[in-house]
Amino acid sequence: MKVSVRVPATSANIGPGFDCLGLALPLYNEVTVEETVMPGSGIEINIIEDNETYDVLSVPKDENNLAYKAIELLYNFIGQSVSDIKITIKTNIPVARGLGSSASVIVGGLIAANELLGRPADEKVLLSIASEVEGHPDNVAPAILGGFCVSSIENDGSVSYSKIEWPSEWKLTVLVPDYELDTSIARSVLPEKVSIKDAAYNVRKCAMLIDAVYRKDSELMKLSLKDKLHQPYREDLIKGFRELSEYLENKEDILGCVISGAGPTILIISKNDGFHRVQNEVDKILSDLNVECDIRTFNIENEGTKVI
Ligand code: HSE
Repeated sequence: MKVSVRVPATSANIGPGFDCLGLALPLYNEVTVEETVMPGSGIEINIIEDNETYDVLSVPKDENNLAYKAIELLYNFIGQSVSDIKITIKTNIPVARGLGSSASVIVGGLIAANELLGRPADEKVLLSIASEVEGHPDNVAPAILGGFCVSSIENDGSVSYSKIEWPSEWKLTVLVPDYELDTSIARSVLPEKVSIKDAAYNVRKCAMLIDAVYRKDSELMKLSLKDKLHQPYREDLIKGFRELSEYLENKEDILGCVISGAGPTILIISKNDGFHRVQNEVDKILSDLNVECDIRTFNIENEGTKVI
């Protein structure tokens, strides 16, 4: 028996919501999990590239594979161990670009295996296993639930989360560069400690952002998409981020420009066709800096992982 699932890409942080906010995008990986017929055949992991632009050679095909790790934790949860299993990952989400490709693989393996086992784990358990493998819940929550999600890992390892309706007129443009940035490198540049002033700044912006989404208030959203906890430390790693942020500040119908997850993708949030009106200048800024980007504008993906 085998089960295949489709998992959306995700963009985490959304400016001030470091490690707690994220949203789903309509780009997908497919993960198939099957119990192999030949006992003793062990683990088999196959990666199929849907989009040849992105290098997936770095994805491990042994016990270090993230889908496998998540499946192993699920089996532990039901008091069993994984024996013979085949995992096939069909990738279309760019790897190491800040679009949740690792979260999609974790969530895909986990949900497909949960279906195979007759759904022993509920949504909350799935979220807590996926967050344990990923280290933070901000990508895995929208990968599972779709839409815009707020999430937090509690002291006991459980995950608290909620999904908030995202205004349909707020469009999401991703600028995906042709280079990779490992999340571990993007996290290594963050300081161990920040000032109370910077922490308070992010608390207010994040609180305002949630209110702006609830009330679909574009002006408040513009004021909210600011951050002092991670972006200032990462911007040297993200070509063009500083220049684009400066250019887009105060442009009509541009709500904000943020680093997608740990980068290097840049996420621009605009109202209706706001991005279209600045696209030529954005292209020029990037080409002056010799940055090649695949630029795509999406509506939010409101559906999370689904069995196909
Ligand atoms: N919140 C995470 C970070 C997302 O910014 O490092 C990357 O996986």
